[in-house]
Amino acid sequence: MSERSSSKSNVIDGRPLNETNYTLPHNAEEEERLNEQHFILGHAFNGDFSAPVDQLLRNGGARVLDVGCGSGIWTLELAKEYPNSCFIGIDIAPVNITGEKPSNVEFIEYNVLDGLPFESNSFDYVFARALVSVYTRSQWTELAIPEYTRIIKPGGWLELMEWDTVLKGGSENIKRLNDAIISMCDQKDLNVAPGYEIQGFIEQSGHYTNIGYEEKSVPIGPKGDKYAEMAIKDWQHVWHGLKFPLMPIMQVAGEQYDAISEAAVGELIEQGVIWENMRAWGQKKDRV
Ligand SMILES: C[S@@+](CC[C@H](N)C(=O)[O-])C[C@H]1O[C@@H](n2cnc3c(N)ncnc32)[C@H](O)[C@@H]1O
Repeated sequence: MSERSSSKSNVIDGRPLNETNYTLPHNAEEEERLNEQHFILGHAFNGDFSAPVDQLLRNGGARVLDVGCGSGIWTLELAKEYPNSCFIGIDIAPVNITGEKPSNVEFIEYNVLDGLPFESNSFDYVFARALVSVYTRSQWTELAIPEYTRIIKPGGWLELMEWDTVLKGGSENIKRLNDAIISMCDQKDLNVAPGYEIQGFIEQSGHYTNIGYEEKSVPIGPKGDKYAEMAIKDWQHVWHGLKFPLMPIMQVAGEQYDAISEAAVGELIEQGVIWENMRAWGQKKDRV
């Protein structure tokens, strides 16, 4: 048995096995990684969201959902910025917050593959970020978008933020990890780069107008600013978190995997790479 698993609870890195497709851990290291990633992405896009909802949230009374909210950082930051609107974060894993939970925030533990536990037409804004390994290829259009659309009020907004998990650049070791991630996604029927599809998902549903799209090439490496350096640590932790799912795919033992991911971090530091990130948003039509 690995040092990170427990036979009692059938859990690896805090994540129950076979519950979903999802492979990253649920532990303090992952929570910290998600928090740092939130700042890296917020910096790249010059803000926490791109849909034109600032005034709506500032006016107050808006109901906002953060799907797969992770550490809860997006929900908590927006709740602070917009104290008169109400924010709900939903995730399969519990959200651990330090300090008191703001009165305009609620966290719900729930598997979104069972649909969303909310009434139709009940949210002004639904935000969903980094759910690349939550939904299978078909679930994006057959489950995620229909459920988001069902719960958004007519005139309300949907925003999706995803990326291309395949890093651009690097040498042998980054490429080996990229290839293993592509194989893992294929095995699980996951789209490794849903960022390129999200605008199409929104458009093709036929339920949205005022559709927008933004794409940012996020640098990872020492040659950018401090966020590019933070992104080195982010990806170091991603590769560490994916150790157990990727080892059998790469057909390597633990020590070999550690050596490959350490060498890949070296490539990030020496060469730098690009990580493509995308946001797409749209406003639900009054009537279809
Ligand atoms: C990569 S993290 C992104 C977290 C957050 N959206 C962010 O951008 O910081 C993906 C999140 O999806 C959650 N998740 C995975 N499968 C899920 C499911 N079936 N239902 C609800 N949440 C799920 C994980 O627990 C994790 O917190």
